[in-house]
Amino acid sequence: MAYITRESGSVLRDPGAIKNFLADHGVLWEYWAPEILPDRLRTGLDLNDSEKEELLRQFQNELDRLAHEFGYISHDIIILHADTTPNLDDLLTNFQKEHHHSEDEVRFIVDGEGIFTLTRNGERFAVTVMPGDLISVPRGTRHCFTLTNSRYVKAVRLFQTKEGWVAIYDASQQVS
Ligand SMILES: [Fe+2]
Repeated sequence: MAYITRESGSVLRDPGAIKNFLADHGVLWEYWAPEILPDRLRTGLDLNDSEKEELLRQFQNELDRLAHEFGYISHDIIILHADTTPNLDDLLTNFQKEHHHSEDEVRFIVDGEGIFTLTRNGERFAVTVMPGDLISVPRGTRHCFTLTNSRYVKAVRLFQTKEGWVAIYDASQQVS
């Protein structure tokens, strides 16, 4: 489960405190139990299309609820791993640059870990996401992303437009 490192250095680990802190900053966070997945779907790095569909089916109710509530029209699965993602360092170089998007950046972490660093309400804080965490970084929020030392994350991405999400590095183009 996620934890939050605030600018002051204090760390929030209690699920209720995490939810309240993120809600106060306009960030949606939920926990979806990843242990309902068979090991192969949860930890496999080379899932074929039917396995990916099966993984998504396991969370169909949650995905449908969010799609209905926030207008997500598509989703996919991304797997980043030091051994199987040949251009991982290039990808991370881009993710680590501060940027925002014109749509929400929504991720459900199936396995592995990552760190979103967000600036909301004038405060910069880091959300380390773990298996089971669903986070929605609101559109227009300046943020960056990196992996932890495990250099591995498997996540479901939800999109609000057909084009998917595009990184905008120029802060002056901020939409909110
Ligand atoms: Fe992003």
